Amino acid sequence: MDVVIVPTAADVGTYAADVVAARIAQEPRTVLGVATGSSPVGIYRELARRRAAGSLDPTHLTCFALDEYVGLAPDHPRSYAAYLDQEVARPLGLPSGRVWVPEASRTDLEAAAEEHEQAIAAAGGIDLQILGIGTNGHIGFNEPISALSSRTRVAALSAQTRTDNARSFDGPDAVPTHCLTQGLGTILESRRVLLVAQGERKAAAVAAAVEGPVAARCPASVLQFHPRATLVLDEAAASALTLENHHRPVPDRGDGAVPGVSAPAS
Ligand code: F6R
Repeated sequence: MDVVIVPTAADVGTYAADVVAARIAQEPRTVLGVATGSSPVGIYRELARRRAAGSLDPTHLTCFALDEYVGLAPDHPRSYAAYLDQEVARPLGLPSGRVWVPEASRTDLEAAAEEHEQAIAAAGGIDLQILGIGTNGHIGFNEPISALSSRTRVAALSAQTRTDNARSFDGPDAVPTHCLTQGLGTILESRRVLLVAQGERKAAAVAAAVEGPVAARCPASVLQFHPRATLVLDEAAASALTLENHHRPVPDRGDGAVPGVSAPAS
């Protein structure tokens, strides 16, 4: 696991966008796994800014969402399909059909889950998976005690997650109770993982994921098994880490582009 600590939340977006942009420059037809929520917004907006400035052409990307709320149609304003249309597909100029979202408003949810897995496989697998982390350590909507080898499936949202996500709805009771989510086993198959976290409210989950045991009670800890997982954190999200010296190197670039980030150790 590589941990990059940058000074501010804005630096997280810029740094992570650099990683994504470098990948797109190398392989324009990259298959990108896209998280939703507040954490990756800075990445998407920075990529859109670079596209508008003419320094990046992301239009050949294929994207796969991690999850979707059960019961929300794609045109529901709180659906992740709508979020990805607004934050990813349109700003990055992706043709329709290039952002795949689990079809969680169908009645045959198990088939929808299986089809999401098959679509990922048919695209050749995910090259780079962007992740956020829940305050309870979830990635995707793999809540604590999810099987570490789980696949895309219907899962129940925890009370904690429904409270955390209530800001987007009319209170916690309005947050859907279930989702379709890629499994932890699915996420582990992506060739590279880029998890971003900002703010002190993520600090305990980040510390458990990075320094705790690999355990289903902190689903993100399964990333310790991933050969190419990079976490990009601001100072606040990194504030509960105790192995301070191990978390300062910049493993990917080390070119000093982000102020305050120390040079790589190796
Ligand atoms: C979203 C997702 C979730 C979020 C997590 C953090 O697609 O899979 O794991 O990344 O809940 O959400 P924010 O970024 O809103 O704090």
